[in-house]
Amino acid sequence: SLDAAFAAVRSEADATVAAPGFDAEQFRLEWLGRKQGHLKAISDAWLKAAPPEAKKLIGQRFNALKEQIEGSLASAGTAETKPAAAGLDVTLPGSAQRLGVEHPLVRTMAEIVGVFQRMGYSVGLGPEVESDFYNFESLNFPPNHPARDTQDTLVVAEQEGKPLRERLLMRTHTSPVQIRSMLEQAPPLRLVIPGKVHRNDAADATHSPVFHQVEGLCVDTNITFSDLKGTLDHAMKAFFGSAVKTRFFPSFFPFTEPSADVQISCIFCGGKGCRKCKHSGWIELLGCGMVDPAVFEAVNKRRIELGRDPVYDTRRISGFAFGMGVDRIAMMKYGISDIGLLYSGDMRFLEQFA
Ligand code: PHE
Repeated sequence: SLDAAFAAVRSEADATVAAPGFDAEQFRLEWLGRKQGHLKAISDAWLKAAPPEAKKLIGQRFNALKEQIEGSLASAGTAETKPAAAGLDVTLPGSAQRLGVEHPLVRTMAEIVGVFQRMGYSVGLGPEVESDFYNFESLNFPPNHPARDTQDTLVVAEQEGKPLRERLLMRTHTSPVQIRSMLEQAPPLRLVIPGKVHRNDAADATHSPVFHQVEGLCVDTNITFSDLKGTLDHAMKAFFGSAVKTRFFPSFFPFTEPSADVQISCIFCGGKGCRKCKHSGWIELLGCGMVDPAVFEAVNKRRIELGRDPVYDTRRISGFAFGMGVDRIAMMKYGISDIGLLYSGDMRFLEQFA
């Protein structure tokens, strides 16, 4: 009978769809092809031969069969998704994806860098394993100079056989990237340099043997201390808010002259005095100064050794540099009391920045 014949066709089609290695495109051609498909042959055989009074009924049954086979094909999808699709309950609630967030240090560093990029600074980078030459000598720290002791340097083992300037160490500050940049580029130069630095400090609530700095370097003709003050005052206002004031105190770094320490009005009490600023109303934030001519001379000397022109002419060129600790700034901004939390990888801490 018609029903039995159509049921047989349908089960053959379903078996083909369920078979391993099922190819939907080939099935479509073989079964549903308009000119030579199986269904075309069936319709020809049954419909054309049928008496006129039976045509309507046979046509309805045939259309039902065709729809069923097209349905099997559609629900088969592709061979790869079939097993998963079989076990998938689309009515179940979705499972929430946990998104990662930027680490508070990375975020703070990017925000500081962004302030300087908007003033036209480019980003510079350098290695964390550095030579004595870049970390100290070229920055006007003479051998055995006591200023080296203030840096608590972590040195790479078994370097004693090498000349001092070639010995490797973990950079204690981002300032060596000033030198590396000036060897590569001629003035004018405006660079902001973020990165990790290392010191042999015992870990406590405010010290970590690895921490982060953002360095700045601006070199051109006619760069003055006023440019340094204006730039840093603007940067502090852009980062902490326009109500913040800055003040500069004399300081010392071997690679800047004159040098200054910069304080900002306390961001917690607005300068009135509170526990955070030890009731002074001010917070010390960074070191800076005018690039010492001895640094330009070291750069010129090294440029000549490398076959490059000594373009940092101290009669024509001047500049300023600054360096700030990112960890302390991030701790102030987010109210973090222990620097160790920044390096702990503790999810209970990190999830608070989501
Ligand atoms: N490198 C100095 C430090 O680590 C900071 C600094 C950078 C000071 C640039 C002056 C100029 O303490």
